[in-house]
Amino acid sequence: MTKKAANILVIHGPNLNMLGKREPNIYGKESLSDIDGSLAQKAEALNIVLETFQSNHEGAIVEKIQNAVGIIDGLIINPAAYTHTSVAIRDAVLLLDVPVIEVHLSNIYRRESFRHRSMIAGAASAQISGLGSYGYIAALDALASMAVAKK
Ligand code: DQA
Repeated sequence: MTKKAANILVIHGPNLNMLGKREPNIYGKESLSDIDGSLAQKAEALNIVLETFQSNHEGAIVEKIQNAVGIIDGLIINPAAYTHTSVAIRDAVLLLDVPVIEVHLSNIYRRESFRHRSMIAGAASAQISGLGSYGYIAALDALASMAVAKK
């Protein structure tokens, strides 16, 4: 019998659709589709069913999380600027009873003080900050081993 593949959702918040063009000294030269492409390759190798989603709208991110309740086995989320402001996204994350990994390309703790606070971190299982695009791959690897451990 083949094992049921884990379902992982990746959410990218506002302005991440501009990666590559946006402050490349901080966020790197890769575009979002480069990052999503590497994630898709890694997911295939790990036998994971992966969906990636980007939105510049807080409500759309909240609804995406609500619709994933009971369906996904793990969430990777870079809430971007909403990290620092959004009680609504935090509350939506709290609806999930699966592991959630918060990812930031940059090390938010080495930047302006308003970026040091994450509304999401207290609702997430873990946070990866400052590993660039590799942070998403590391998060996927971690969620894959957590999903395997559960089965
Ligand atoms: C970010 C860090 C946030 O402070 C910023 O608003 C972003 C990207 C990161 O990936 O490093 O848009 O989440």
